[in-house]
Amino acid sequence: MAKSKTVFVCSECGYESGKWLGKCPACNSWNSFYEQKVVETKSKGLLQANGKVATPQTLSSYEAKETIRTHTGFNELDRVLGGGLVKGSLVLLGGEPGIGKSTLILQICDKIKGEGKVLYVSGEESAEQIKLRADRLGINNEDILFLGETNIELVDQAIINVNPKLVIIDSIQTMYSEEITAAAGSVSQVREITSQVMRVCKSKGITTIIIGHVTKEGNIAGPRVLEHMVDTVLYLEGERYFSYRILRSVKNRFGSTNEIGMFEMQDKGMCEITNPSDILISEREDNPAGSCIVATMEGTRPLLVELQALTCQTVFGYPRRAANGIDYNRLTLLIAVLEKKAGMMLSSQDVYLNVVGGLKVNEPAMDLGIIIVTASSFKNIPIPKDMIILGEVGLTGEVRRINLIEKRLKEAEKLGFKSCLIPESNKKDLKDNYKLDIIGIRNVNEAMKKIGLK
Ligand code: TYD
Ligand code: MG
Repeated sequence: MAKSKTVFVCSECGYESGKWLGKCPACNSWNSFYEQKVVETKSKGLLQANGKVATPQTLSSYEAKETIRTHTGFNELDRVLGGGLVKGSLVLLGGEPGIGKSTLILQICDKIKGEGKVLYVSGEESAEQIKLRADRLGINNEDILFLGETNIELVDQAIINVNPKLVIIDSIQTMYSEEITAAAGSVSQVREITSQVMRVCKSKGITTIIIGHVTKEGNIAGPRVLEHMVDTVLYLEGERYFSYRILRSVKNRFGSTNEIGMFEMQDKGMCEITNPSDILISEREDNPAGSCIVATMEGTRPLLVELQALTCQTVFGYPRRAANGIDYNRLTLLIAVLEKKAGMMLSSQDVYLNVVGGLKVNEPAMDLGIIIVTASSFKNIPIPKDMIILGEVGLTGEVRRINLIEKRLKEAEKLGFKSCLIPESNKKDLKDNYKLDIIGIRNVNEAMKKIGLK
């Protein structure tokens, strides 16, 4: 096929150049040029676009078609997608290599059986490898067609011929288009391939899932080039050597982006976890110092998680602070509040904070928990095992109102907790009766006194 004309474009400022440049002359950024295909258009001037005239209309004159959704067989995934896979949509599933993307997708291909053919295009693994995986997962499905191909022009042709219900591209980084000279996996290739697949699938109403590996910086092949093109972006996260996986949506044109789904990688593939709070707090030691339970919201769902803190004498002059699963700056800020407002001197202490289960919780409602758990480790005094702690902490040490308190309390009640420290302003507004002993708190010192840390 003849090579089409390409230009090099700076991903930072959009400067165009005929050849690749290491440094952009316009915005001075380094290594920002990627190759892009030039689409030749014949300008016919104003008012001559094939004789057509574009007439804007009011929204009410359009009729919204109901989106058709397919259930994936995993309730957790359906919820993250906003109720199932939308027909004709393009979903990008990102995640680190080896996290379980191909496994999850193969399971989905099997679970939506009876709904039409599925075309699984893999540029990573051979048919034998996929067969081995399918055997291991107990999948034997005549509706799944496999294609081991990396040339996207041939893949497009196959999609048109087969006309499946669902297309899987595993992975975007292994595919290449002959029209772009850059190597497979480069920003220009990835963009071109996505737009080609999108053109074919959208015109035929075929649902597409594209798998993409995440680079070390946490981007899918370069500076988030794909995210704006697709309808839904999902990330599968988790520590490779822990079995829990969290599916998070960061963009969704058909649903909320705050939902998460929890899975566990087992020897028979991915299994969904429907009661995550139960599992996340089940391995808690019997009442140790430096451990407390907080209730975070993941989308519309409350999740109880364990926060752990460890303080120990600094060996070198400069105390270390490490935060795993919470924002580092938030931790240093809260330690400063603890020092100044509660008089707890941590300047000669290293402070380590961890959220159990590899979860990330970036929510102000965790503040009071972080402060109390740090103080508990420092003083070596345990927090009552059946207590949960909630509240945002301000710089003057005051405990401030948090949102969605009822849902968090209900979850704590459901899991058998007995008491709960919450902001006083929240307590005043509570309408329902709870089986919990609810203690209203105005400031950090009051909370510490209640637990016996002061
Ligand atoms: P895979 O889906 O190939 O990851 P990705 O496509 O994201 O690169 O999963 C790879 C890992 O999953 C591999 O280390 C083995 C493990 N695994 C299981 O633990 N159980 C299983 O049933 C399967 C199929 C894989
Ligand atoms: Mg894979």
